[in-house]
Amino acid sequence: MTTNLKSGLSAYRDRIDSRLAVLVPQALPGQSELDAAIAESILAPGKRLRPLMAALTAEDLGGDVETAIDAGCAVEMVHAASLVLDDLPCMDNAAMRRGRPAIHMTFGEDVAVLSSIAVLAGAFQLLATIPGLAARERSEAIAILTRAVGTAGLVGGQFEDLRGGRATRALSEIATTNGLKTGSLFSAAVEIGAVVAGANGRVRALLRDFAADLGHAFQLLDDLLDGTSSAVLIGKDVGKDQGKSTIVSLIGRPSVMHRIERHLADAHQRLSEVFGPTNRMHMLLDLIFDKALAGSLEPLGVAAAERRDPGAGAR
Ligand code: IPE
Ligand code: IPE
Ligand code: MG
Ligand code: MG
Ligand code: MG
Repeated sequence: MTTNLKSGLSAYRDRIDSRLAVLVPQALPGQSELDAAIAESILAPGKRLRPLMAALTAEDLGGDVETAIDAGCAVEMVHAASLVLDDLPCMDNAAMRRGRPAIHMTFGEDVAVLSSIAVLAGAFQLLATIPGLAARERSEAIAILTRAVGTAGLVGGQFEDLRGGRATRALSEIATTNGLKTGSLFSAAVEIGAVVAGANGRVRALLRDFAADLGHAFQLLDDLLDGTSSAVLIGKDVGKDQGKSTIVSLIGRPSVMHRIERHLADAHQRLSEVFGPTNRMHMLLDLIFDKALAGSLEPLGVAAAERRDPGAGAR
């Protein structure tokens, strides 16, 4: 069962990668450096969790998968743009991403900022032009993604993370930050999948709640790994959270593990209310968390070797 699921998810991820390669925004002729930075930020081998979840959600609610994959690619572009900014020296000052030099290390901070804006713009251009979306669904999807980027989403969360992270914070404040910086985009992914399928408000709300719990668990896991994993294993800098107020620094690792389990139990509960107890999204969660918690961060087969191959993500 798990093997079938894994190969099914890998096939999905290949379809997503193929679409991303086609949909990646192009720079003007002669601007090859900008072109390469844009392509690298999107196509470098990430797990593609957000587009995967958009596509699975839409398909299991009876929506069109091709449309959902393209809409999921828009969410992935927002994610990619956010990682480029997150790694800048003025933010987390990280040198490695997805097993490769961070965009600003290869192309400079100036090109990194411009490519991030281009990728963000490309995401909305894509949502605005996907052929299979009716006008109402299109504007809903654009509104959902816009909210996830802005002050009530990524931007608000990253601001709190950077400024609030320097001070002692209550657990609830840090959780709010994590919800904004990480949960928002997972929620947008599944809700956009639901919009593609024409789902009702109740289903959309349940899926948002599911993704919020997933986002909390995901960021807690990420913070745990920052202190225990290695750059080779997770393909990005570790130790970046030292001196920062995180839930890990506040309550310690064992309590964080319990919080992850509680968030995952709630996430599974919400999923069951929408899809029943045997849906493949349950198993996707298990794949993400079981393997990562067991020390390997290759839940969807993004092998370390693939991440290290500088040609693997190039067009
Ligand atoms: C990294 O997200 C940023 C966080 C929210 C912790 P992912 O772990 O999904 O990154 P990629 O896309 O696989 O590189
Ligand atoms: C999440 O937080 C970053 C974004 C939402 C862009 P982190 O700063 O911990 O993510 P990583 O560890 O750099 O991927
Ligand atoms: Mg950060
Ligand atoms: Mg970071
Ligand atoms: Mg981190």
